[in-house]
Amino acid sequence: MNSQNIYILGIESSCDDTASSVICNGKVISNVVANQKIHAEYGGVVPELASRAHQQNIVPVVHQALKKAEINKSQLNAVAFTRGPGLMGSLLVGTSFSKSLAYGLNIPLIDVNHMQAHILAHFIDEDGFEKPKFPFLALTISGGHTQIVKVNDYFDMEVIGETIDDAVGEAFDKSGKILGLNYPAGSEIDKLAQSGNPKAFKFTKPKVEGLNFSFSGFKTAVLYFIQREVKANPNFIKENLNDICASIQYTIIGILIDKLKLATKQTGINQIAIGGGVSANSGIRKALKDGEQKFGWKTYIPKFEFTTDNAAMIAIVGYLKYLDKDFAGQDVMASARLKI
Ligand code: KG4
Ligand code: ZN
Repeated sequence: MNSQNIYILGIESSCDDTASSVICNGKVISNVVANQKIHAEYGGVVPELASRAHQQNIVPVVHQALKKAEINKSQLNAVAFTRGPGLMGSLLVGTSFSKSLAYGLNIPLIDVNHMQAHILAHFIDEDGFEKPKFPFLALTISGGHTQIVKVNDYFDMEVIGETIDDAVGEAFDKSGKILGLNYPAGSEIDKLAQSGNPKAFKFTKPKVEGLNFSFSGFKTAVLYFIQREVKANPNFIKENLNDICASIQYTIIGILIDKLKLATKQTGINQIAIGGGVSANSGIRKALKDGEQKFGWKTYIPKFEFTTDNAAMIAIVGYLKYLDKDFAGQDVMASARLKI
């Protein structure tokens, strides 16, 4: 490798994953994530436990990212970190660590917006993956967020729709909890749904104006439905688990696709890029691909490891900002409610 190589270290600690990645000229050369298993027994992320786990994980995770990249920290050109949005205690761990590291190495510090990073993950150089062209629409769907963003340029983005209550991942996770599945339940519902009938049970879709979403009513509808059926037949869940999961997933996908249809109509933009943990869902992936035939969409689905919370997406934003010399000062602060 020659001296033209620009190495960016990315650090992500906004929720319950401690992650670090090294990117060289836009290509990922290491991508390490330490998941925090501790939250599963509580059925959701416990903020205080998340911060403590970040404290324990951050040094080994960064070491591993450097080791896997086969570089020394003195070769780094900049440190990029998640400034927000996220859980304050979690963000503080990554922010303080990154500030100290950049200061110690005397290299630039770059602050990154986590939501922008989910979108800009599409600009990681990856064989076989095409990068979207501006302008495009981004659908970011995870346990913490649900947004439709109009992306005019790398750092010119406009949120045109978002959830007014729960995120779509919560709709999966909370439905899973009602069914007695482990947290987070999204991938299990996805698996169970594959051998179920999506039209076995009907759940009404929430009526929300424009491009916004709402999932709290949906979760309540699932709860009341299950309570009613279990009262009549205590084995209802066990006997119908695949059909229930398929029906829940079908309804959620319908909600997302309806809003995307409206967004493409309103903006006249037919390119759609997705991101966030829920974009791993096989039904959503299929519905988007089908949209290419049905509605003339062009869809972009990133590699799985870059859709869930990860640090490669932070590092790629770091790289883009590095090229613009858009650096942060040591006075930069974590921001739990940072907006796009
Ligand atoms: O992006 P992510 O790893 O973390 C944040 O929430 O930011 O997303 C986690 C969410 C969880 O709600 C999980 O249930 C959901 O993504 N998820 C899925 C699938 N895999 C993960 N939801 C539906 N289908 C899946 N295959
Ligand atoms: Zn995220």
